[in-house]
Amino acid sequence: MSNVETKMPPTYPMNGGEGPYSYSKNSYFQRATTNVLKALIDEAIIEKLNVEALVSSRPATIRLADLGCSVGPNTFIAMQNAIDAIQMNLTSRGHITEMPEFQVFFNDHAANDFNTLFKSVPPERPYYAAGVPGSFHGRLFPESSLHFVHSQYALQWLSRIPDEMSNRNSPAWNKGKIHCTNASEAVCNAYAGQFNKDMEAFLKSRAEEVAAGGIVVLTMPGKPDDVPYSKIPVCLMYDFIGLSLMDMAKEGTISEEQVDCFNLPLYAASPAEIARLVKMDSSFHIETMELLNTQSRYEGGVNAQEIVIHLRAGLEGIISKHFGSEIVDELFRCLVEKTREFSYLLDSSYKEGTLMFLVLKRH
Ligand SMILES: C[S@@+](CC[C@H](N)C(=O)[O-])C[C@H]1O[C@@H](n2cnc3c(N)ncnc32)[C@H](O)[C@@H]1O
Repeated sequence: MSNVETKMPPTYPMNGGEGPYSYSKNSYFQRATTNVLKALIDEAIIEKLNVEALVSSRPATIRLADLGCSVGPNTFIAMQNAIDAIQMNLTSRGHITEMPEFQVFFNDHAANDFNTLFKSVPPERPYYAAGVPGSFHGRLFPESSLHFVHSQYALQWLSRIPDEMSNRNSPAWNKGKIHCTNASEAVCNAYAGQFNKDMEAFLKSRAEEVAAGGIVVLTMPGKPDDVPYSKIPVCLMYDFIGLSLMDMAKEGTISEEQVDCFNLPLYAASPAEIARLVKMDSSFHIETMELLNTQSRYEGGVNAQEIVIHLRAGLEGIISKHFGSEIVDELFRCLVEKTREFSYLLDSSYKEGTLMFLVLKRH
């Protein structure tokens, strides 16, 4: 294992604990996605994962990893579903007399609230559980040691904001905005460039860690190639956060300068970008790539309060780090109003397929 000392960019975990703004209490939208995807993931495991080969030597252990697991409970549901599907796959083939053992690795940044995660691991579980701290943009596991890798709503997080965006003389200086939604071409290119670098690093590491025949199932916000960010519901929400911050700057609660140099490291990739990156790496092939519609939260009479509390559970950390925790209540109050004011933009946004679902198989 090579040990390279690099300066790690800061990380911003979801709100920990079990309080009113915690991720564990405010991630039921994501959980709804887990439930909708169950049938697709079952199908991928049953049709694409050659489980018999995995248990051909004894003792057999099947190793699963959930990358960007946060604090639960969604990760426990996803991992249980995957194990159920693997077991079903094995029993349906009839000649498996002895079930393999299962080991599940729960990965997230070291700053994630692993204490809450560990306290809530289901006591009755058919697997050995381990926490793995560190960025999934680098190596986390030994070579060829994993058979099933899962990551839901995590790969949209960029590892950093590209350097050119911190330079006020650069065309990528994002004045008055905090995301690539409705931003200049230079800003959009900077975001896309960073996503490409991150995804390349992700695929390279997984190529080393996933055993031949293993599968990787990824779910993240996405967008069709020709639809602008300003038509994607979640990207509109990021823009509304920017507008709320600018309102607060005009009132003098924060400075415009603080807004100018703040950018959310969140991206929504398109199928063409993903296909190009997977092809470039050449260790995986795409078994399935679909843009799914599971965004009912943005349809017909948007519940601004619910959407905003979900965003707060994920973004409070990064926002309070930059602007100070004292502005957070007011910002999210403003955001509820902004979401109501511009709900017509959400109503008319593109919803046919904004969730990227990807099944990759290791050659
Ligand atoms: C929105 S949460 C998703 C949690 C869970 N997968 C779910 O679907 O509910 C995204 C998680 O990804 C984690 N994450 C983001 N970038 C990461 C990275 N480079 N390495 C590991 N975890 C990362 C965040 O810390 C966060 O806990």
